[in-house]
Amino acid sequence: MLAQRPPMGWNSWNTFGKDIHEDLIKEMADAMVDLGYLDAGYTYLVIDDCWAEKQRDENGKLVPDKEKFPSGMKALSDYVHSKGLKFGMYSCAGLRTCADYPSSYGHEFVDAKTFAEWGVDFLKYDFCYFPQSGNCKQAYQTMSLALKHSGREILFSACNWGVEDPWNWMRSIGVHMYRSTGDIQDKFESFKKIGLSQVDNLCCSAPGCYNDPDMLIVGMYGKGNVGLGGCTDEEYRTHFAMWCLFGVPLMMGGDIRNVNEFSRSLMQNKELIAINQDEEARPPYRVYNQGYPNDWDTYTFIKHLSNGEYVLAYFNMGDEDRKLSLPFVGVGLPYYSGCGFHLTDIFSGEDMGAHYDIYSAQVPAHGCRLFRAKVVDL
Ligand code: GLA
Repeated sequence: MLAQRPPMGWNSWNTFGKDIHEDLIKEMADAMVDLGYLDAGYTYLVIDDCWAEKQRDENGKLVPDKEKFPSGMKALSDYVHSKGLKFGMYSCAGLRTCADYPSSYGHEFVDAKTFAEWGVDFLKYDFCYFPQSGNCKQAYQTMSLALKHSGREILFSACNWGVEDPWNWMRSIGVHMYRSTGDIQDKFESFKKIGLSQVDNLCCSAPGCYNDPDMLIVGMYGKGNVGLGGCTDEEYRTHFAMWCLFGVPLMMGGDIRNVNEFSRSLMQNKELIAINQDEEARPPYRVYNQGYPNDWDTYTFIKHLSNGEYVLAYFNMGDEDRKLSLPFVGVGLPYYSGCGFHLTDIFSGEDMGAHYDIYSAQVPAHGCRLFRAKVVDL
């Protein structure tokens, strides 16, 4: 089964945009293996938009850009596969791709076969230049059937930016992950907005099909194609922890050949990745802080894990340091139960001991605290 867990990998768009070529993609494949990303679970290496010639060939087939990819896509996918990685590519449901290259509208079955011949394992499918008379659900359905008929198992990553509430229907049409928001930018306000916009839709994610609030910006620090000032380390930590807690795909977007040590070890944090990949894929449950003003921008969650433990998560998305409290009655552990939570800090590993009734954590502005929790008798 494809996408049994939220897919993990790297995509060229955030950092490189149109400046992609086969040597770069090979270097990325090398980096994914040599720098420990594959071992951490990142399997898919995905080439985004701008890989094609501007026109199809005389047989109506897509053609890789001859200057950027002189050896062709099959040779490149062979290289990627030789590294133990899976190979992803990009097309679009509309008349042209977002960067004005040929798209698959009306060519779905031919293109799916071409991708299969090239050894593609993952297709990102965008939504630019979609005709007004077109039917969005049908268009994604057509490519879904074309991929299944292609003769190769290809993960279908839809990208219609949340148009027509995709969480309600993408699973039914065979999609494995679907972009539910506009494009992420490399700044705190961007990931805050798109991440939090999906809290109520995460209940639709489950093995086989996941909500995708876009690629990671961790480690970009304002460099690249979606750079807008960048984030602080604290903010990247919050972004990554949120994507892990939400159980959404982890597609890295930074230049992983040379992200700094902080970002590399963050994106390879075993415990956070294990939470993201938990086999039950339960979305987090938001616990409201009674009596706290809404404009404090505070979010507390509990997430059930398959091993019987829980994650308690405290996010301070506001601009001032805060003490956040999570009343345990809100997660079904009232005072009279005689039970409490034994907490371990996920980032520091510190044993925080057992707590009863409520736990309050000091959380810096734009920061988060995450705890692994076990129910214990007191
Ligand atoms: C859209 C998508 C992005 C990226 C670009 C490529 O904006 O949402 O993720 O694929 O197109 O042009």
